[in-house]
Amino acid sequence: MNRISILDPALADKIAAGEVVERPSSVVKELVENSIDAKATQIQIRIIDGGRTLIEVKDNGIGMSKEDAILSIRRHATSKIKTDYDLFSIQTMGFRGEALSAISSVSKFTLMTCEENQVGTKLVCLNSEVVRIEPCALTRGTIIQVEELFYNTPARLKYLKADSSEFSAILDITNKLALAHPEISFSLYSNQKLMFQTSGKDDIIEILSEIFGLQVAKNMHYFEKQTHDFKIYGYTSSISFSKSNRYSIFTYVNGRYIKNKGLTDSVIEGYHELLFENRYPFTVLYIEADPTILDVNIHPTKQDIRISKEFDLRKLIKETIHETLTQTKKINEIRMSSTRQEQQPIQPFFDFSIQEKEETYPSSFTQMENSNETEFVIPQSLPHQEDHYYLPIGQIHGTYIVAQSQDGFIIIDQHAAAERIRYERYQKLFLENHHSIDLLFPLVIELSNSDYQELLPHLSLLKEVKIDAELFGNNAIKITHVPYYLDKIDLKTYVETLIQQIIQNKKIDLNALKDYAIATLACKASLKANAHLSFADMEKIIHDLFACQNPYTCPHGRPTLLKYTLQELQKAFKRT
Ligand SMILES: Nc1ncnc2c1ncn2[C@@H]1O[C@H](COP(=O)(O)OP(=O)(O)OP(=O)(O)O)[C@@H](O)[C@H]1O
Ligand SMILES: [Mg+2]
Repeated sequence: MNRISILDPALADKIAAGEVVERPSSVVKELVENSIDAKATQIQIRIIDGGRTLIEVKDNGIGMSKEDAILSIRRHATSKIKTDYDLFSIQTMGFRGEALSAISSVSKFTLMTCEENQVGTKLVCLNSEVVRIEPCALTRGTIIQVEELFYNTPARLKYLKADSSEFSAILDITNKLALAHPEISFSLYSNQKLMFQTSGKDDIIEILSEIFGLQVAKNMHYFEKQTHDFKIYGYTSSISFSKSNRYSIFTYVNGRYIKNKGLTDSVIEGYHELLFENRYPFTVLYIEADPTILDVNIHPTKQDIRISKEFDLRKLIKETIHETLTQTKKINEIRMSSTRQEQQPIQPFFDFSIQEKEETYPSSFTQMENSNETEFVIPQSLPHQEDHYYLPIGQIHGTYIVAQSQDGFIIIDQHAAAERIRYERYQKLFLENHHSIDLLFPLVIELSNSDYQELLPHLSLLKEVKIDAELFGNNAIKITHVPYYLDKIDLKTYVETLIQQIIQNKKIDLNALKDYAIATLACKASLKANAHLSFADMEKIIHDLFACQNPYTCPHGRPTLLKYTLQELQKAFKRT
């Protein structure tokens, strides 16, 4: 009995659409890429209800004839490649001939298009079928309207997020496309409101300013270098402007936004030792290469590409960025100090020495968080506070405290211990209701436009972690009140870290956020390895550690101390 049959074309289109059209932002990406390939100089995007109700992309590109318009929504219909050779030397954004067919199979789709000095064509499409074709009055260009996306694929519809989240993803993709093509003027409207615009004057800095705000744009440095195989150029932020995640590194290859961890790592490596741990730059990196050394045909979204000689490219990026930063470091420092005077006194980065009076730990520290961890065995006989008095003997390797008791000695990891002490202290402070203090200079935090949109519906969460924030102009928030114990830390970094945590967690759990806030405070403000300690410092750490509810591990679960008894020593030296 024959059981196999060829799928109905409309069903085959829907299956193929699953890969290309994941959510509204994928539709925007595909339509805008088509407009770019059509040599548009102006692209306008209109979104209603996060793209659920309408996505419209209008361009002034070359348009299509009536016959091409009809063909354009068929699968494997493309004007961009014809031969094998073309496939291996792609010059355009699209080439697979599947985007319009995919989009039109999962939406109510209307296309209006017109070539120079011709009569325009309007085509209405439902369920992969053209249901109406008629002439229409239009100047050169194309308008595509995608209504009720996923109306006929309920499973996909169910997975759409809140309108604000979908719009934020659209804004994010538009940012990336606009940065890829500063020579094109983009405008993006959400529910009739203009949300993002670029002039098309080929000004990358202008676009960076739209996305990240003026302060970041002002602190960008240009870099450029060319080898036989590659030309790289772009802008990267000075070391005084960093982010808590790596999402602000935009990489383009021949005008295409790509995601490539190796290339992003090379940018970060270019900042080697110039940025604090877990801080990342803002970078826009353009790479130009002969299309024959690139393979773009790896994934339907084309954001993943293979580059031959990638190793050479990574080296080139890392060295160019590092050179740019070290050369401009001096200029930066002058700039930084003048900006600081204009604004507010900047607090040292979680400076231990300026905690409340009773805290007298020293302030010099280097990070040890990600150092290679060795396996620890926690000794069976753990010491107790009331058991013994521990007399500090000294500090070894600038990292461990050795203290002796009547029946043995302990070795304390000073960073882990300080982290535990702070963790419990902040835990207690968070539970208590302290008066907020007015910030003498309210702290203004500029966000990227998409982060801002993402944060908006959750702004009240900051209040839950005791930070009073209000909206402040375009894409910025103002922090006005914080509890007294946050007054003396690098508040900006702390709040930015919390914001990223809010944005990145799809389901926000308040308790988890509070825990995260406490752990961040404890870790960032903790004493690091290689800090010199006086005997008084050591005594205080020992005292405070044993006053903790759980003195034996740091909040990440690593041991804070090891104990050796005299008996164990005697056994080891074969004295018994
Ligand atoms: N805005 C536009 N202006 C002019 N022509 C367009 C426009 N959008 C689409 N087209 C034409 O329709 C064809 C099909 O578009 P579609 O996006 O489906 O495929 P593609 O761009 O060739 O490849 P891919 O699937 O990789 O995007 C294109 O090759 C192009 O000729
Ligand atoms: Mg396309």
